[in-house]
Amino acid sequence: MDKKDNFRKQVRSFYSVLLTSFIMVMLIGILGVTYMINPSAFSFKENGPSSEMVSKNAEDEDWDKIENGIHLRTGLKDADGLMAVVNNCTNCHSAKLVMQNRMNEERWVETIRWMQETQNLWDLGENEKVIVDYLVTNYPPKSKGRREALTNIEWYPLEDK
Ligand code: HEC
Repeated sequence: MDKKDNFRKQVRSFYSVLLTSFIMVMLIGILGVTYMINPSAFSFKENGPSSEMVSKNAEDEDWDKIENGIHLRTGLKDADGLMAVVNNCTNCHSAKLVMQNRMNEERWVETIRWMQETQNLWDLGENEKVIVDYLVTNYPPKSKGRREALTNIEWYPLEDK
């Protein structure tokens, strides 16, 4: 083996080392970028409950968390009777349906009777008053768009001069 051959061999092995390191750096780079974009790709817990599902656990301390006067889970205002409303009125439909409907006491009671007669809503017992009070106090009927008809006016006859 002459010197030239030896030199070529060295150059070749030098390049193969260089190439291997280059590939490794690229792989680590790709993995790093993937991790930065989506860390959960590396958690390998596909069949476990997602963190979202875990936070919905009723025993979670955040379950009935209130922030800025709003019950986060339902969006209802924090006030007397809140939990009675949460526990009785958000089981079948969203609390949004409750909040959107601004009614007076009489119409709330009618709505509750209607749900009891046609939608299997249970007897609310003492909670009914608590719930209706909560709704009327916190979600009162919006002011009417048009003024109410005038009453008690003293009309006077128009006279031709
Ligand atoms: C047993 C199931 C159930 C429960 C509990 C329940 N509702 Fe309902 N409610 C319904 C159904 C079903 C509808 C009709 C939904 C629809 O039209 O999509 C409804 C409709 C409504 C509506 C809309 C009525 C309308 O005229 O459109 C309001 C407001 C409402 N519920 C408020 C309440 C309040 C307040 C409570 C708590 C006292 C409550 N619901 C509890 C089943 C229920």
